[in-house]
Amino acid sequence: MAPAKAALLAGVVLLLASCVSSVALYCSAQRAAFDGMRAELSRTAAMAATVVDADAHKQFVSPEQEASPEYRRAIAPLARILTASGDMKFVYTCVLRQDKVYFILDPTPAGDSNGDGVDDKSHIMDAYPEAPQSMIETLRTGIGGSDSKVYPDRWGSFMSGYAPLRDSQGSLVGIVGVDMNATQYLKHLEHLQRALWVGFVMALLMSLGAAICVYSYQRNAQAASAERLASAEALRRAHEELRQTNNDLEERVHLRTAELLVAYNATIEGWSRALEMRDHETEGHCRRVTDLALRMGEALGMNDDELNTLRQGALLHDIGKMGIPDEILLKPGALTESEWAIMRLHPEYAVQMLQPIEFLEPALDIPRYHHEKWDGTGYPCGLSGEEIPRAARLFALVDVWDALRSDRPYRRAWSHDRVCEHIRGLAGSHFDPALTEIFLDVVGEEQTDLPLAA
Ligand SMILES: [Fe+2]
Ligand SMILES: [Fe+2]
Repeated sequence: MAPAKAALLAGVVLLLASCVSSVALYCSAQRAAFDGMRAELSRTAAMAATVVDADAHKQFVSPEQEASPEYRRAIAPLARILTASGDMKFVYTCVLRQDKVYFILDPTPAGDSNGDGVDDKSHIMDAYPEAPQSMIETLRTGIGGSDSKVYPDRWGSFMSGYAPLRDSQGSLVGIVGVDMNATQYLKHLEHLQRALWVGFVMALLMSLGAAICVYSYQRNAQAASAERLASAEALRRAHEELRQTNNDLEERVHLRTAELLVAYNATIEGWSRALEMRDHETEGHCRRVTDLALRMGEALGMNDDELNTLRQGALLHDIGKMGIPDEILLKPGALTESEWAIMRLHPEYAVQMLQPIEFLEPALDIPRYHHEKWDGTGYPCGLSGEEIPRAARLFALVDVWDALRSDRPYRRAWSHDRVCEHIRGLAGSHFDPALTEIFLDVVGEEQTDLPLAA
């Protein structure tokens, strides 16, 4: 919700609530004040009744008696009560004759002091036709009471209290009435009205304060929320940029790795070709053994990395021969025992050449161990069985296969079946028996019996 709207709503709600409660409080206080005044009127009337001699009261029947000492004696206590209770305008007695009300005692001095054209004093047996209902009720029932509302008569507007006047026999002879001027009554309510106004102004100020607080809080909350959203958005963007940068970097790393792999493989193939250029007899051998080794690798379920390592190892299997002197490597005839000893060094030469190249470390198994035999009679380490790395065991089959299937200056290439037979015969001595079976399955797919290379 917009801060201004929330503030307005809070202010209006608080103001309404305050006004309703103030008015309710005022009504309640007004009722209490009103009841209090009625009780005071009744008490004053009852007190006045105690100072009136009801037996003597019965003797006053005509205005002429007002000059008598008895009358003056009779009104004297009423005059004192009137003086003592400052809020009262009149204290008097009345009687009921043939359903009509008449005044008897009234200590008010005669005359028109306020200039309203009416004698201030009521005289003995003055009729009082404006008598309020409460007064008549007391005159009839003898039960004291007070008016429940302001009533008008010829002297003004009043609220009055009434008390029965009984003689020594207990008979009701009249009532004592006390009048409070309506303006006096309203004066009593003035402070309540002032309190109501003060309450209203306080409510207005409180509502205004609450509205300002709500407005300020809502505005701060909205600002904080906007700030949080902005932070979250900035974080999201930064995260997205980071992710994009990571992706870019990853892509570049993959690209560079692929480029490096291509460069390494090109280098390896270059070395392999360089060797073949020295040893013309084995021309094409490296490519063929590499292809066949890869078919074996696929038959064994190798993954791409393993196949790549296998390919590198196959291409480099005889790279150590680079270190063999030409007179031995290129010798047309059979090698002497000492020449063979030198020739058998080529796996170690390969290790010396390739080991410093960390990238080729996994591919070293084939150059190092491809002349090891299953029964431990191979070289250079004389490893046996599964001590020989699987790639080297696999490659030994491929290497011998291709050598026998190729022409040499001193012999023709062997037939497919003859080579298969030969290799099968070496399973368990030269070759891993399990791999031999798989190998024969792989090469068994070849249908040609012609030499693979010239
Ligand atoms: Fe070799
Ligand atoms: Fe070879």
